[in-house]
Amino acid sequence: MDIGAQYGPLRAEIDRAIAGVLDSGRFILGPEVSTLEAEVSARMEGRPCVGVANGTDALVIALNALDVGPGDEVITTPYTFYATAEAIARLGAVPVFVDIREDDHCIDPSLVEAAITPRTKAILPVHIFGHPADMTPLRAVAEAHGLPVIEDSAQAFGAADGGRPVGALGDLATISFFPTKNLPGIGDGGMVVCRTEELADRVRRLRFHGSRDKVVFEEVGYNSRLDELQAAVIRIFLRHVDGWNDGRRAAAAAYEAAGLGELMTLPAERPGAHHIYHLYMARHPDREAVMAALKARGIAAAVYYGIPMHLQPVFAHLGYKPGDLPVAETCADTALALPMHPHLTEEQVAEVVDAVRSVNRVVAG
Ligand SMILES: Cc1ncc(COP(=O)(O)O)c(C=O)c1O
Repeated sequence: MDIGAQYGPLRAEIDRAIAGVLDSGRFILGPEVSTLEAEVSARMEGRPCVGVANGTDALVIALNALDVGPGDEVITTPYTFYATAEAIARLGAVPVFVDIREDDHCIDPSLVEAAITPRTKAILPVHIFGHPADMTPLRAVAEAHGLPVIEDSAQAFGAADGGRPVGALGDLATISFFPTKNLPGIGDGGMVVCRTEELADRVRRLRFHGSRDKVVFEEVGYNSRLDELQAAVIRIFLRHVDGWNDGRRAAAAAYEAAGLGELMTLPAERPGAHHIYHLYMARHPDREAVMAALKARGIAAAVYYGIPMHLQPVFAHLGYKPGDLPVAETCADTALALPMHPHLTEEQVAEVVDAVRSVNRVVAG
């Protein structure tokens, strides 16, 4: 990340937005939040959007809005941030992990049907690293079994599948505005995108203690609200997110043009998909050597999801063993996030590629 390059030019605008909120005296669920909800909705084919406290709460509330509870099963991917699976378990339901596709790192739709049981309550794909899950076959399986789909869009704001925006492709979708996300806030924040007004009504009620009016409490809910300061700043970033995503795509193209594909397995973009490269995950059989070579040159690189969810201690009771979900496990063992942000220069890309090339020379003997 390069926070300075990204936010520096916007600093005066951000300062004015923060001062405006302070002057307004409205701090929680005020006009900035409702305007942000409307602005995001306009990008989500008009679907109602509901701001919440963070992307994890967005998942818990979305699942709760579908009445997911103890004994239910939710089919999801093992190759994701823990929050996806945690939200399922938080409601007492069981995450059922289905392996991923090697090319896009998302849940493999062809394996979903075999995982459906009478207890299955929902399917929860993740648009991981900014690449949309393959929603057309996923929706077909879901529809055939009458199951709702929740899209975890925490890493993919602005990505699209078949020309349609992720977030508007399922029954519910969740967004995170965590500061490292491609549409960030300056603290925690999240949103739920809803296919129907009825679902949005339930989500709004759940985010505020299960009440519509602070007088009558209809169900056990949450205190999970987006605050005005976050919304005011996210609104500024929203105007830039497409340009930033274009910058990320340009950086990905630069990695390819610089020959990285001869040295590592590059992240793929499925035909019809619009990848926004929230993270640039490339694979190498000797990942540790690549990391060491980058580190030696002062270049940051990071492993994401080195232990896939089905092998995490918290889910040991579910009985998964190493080897059960081989594609996810291979990716967990070999994938590395290389530098990726909207302002990455060709020189920086060349430096990274050069460092990786030095490893391949050693590996090749
Ligand atoms: C795939 C995924 N889902 C959910 C979350 C949770 O979002 P938050 O950190 O806003 O709670 C994150 C990010 O942290 C994420 O990457």
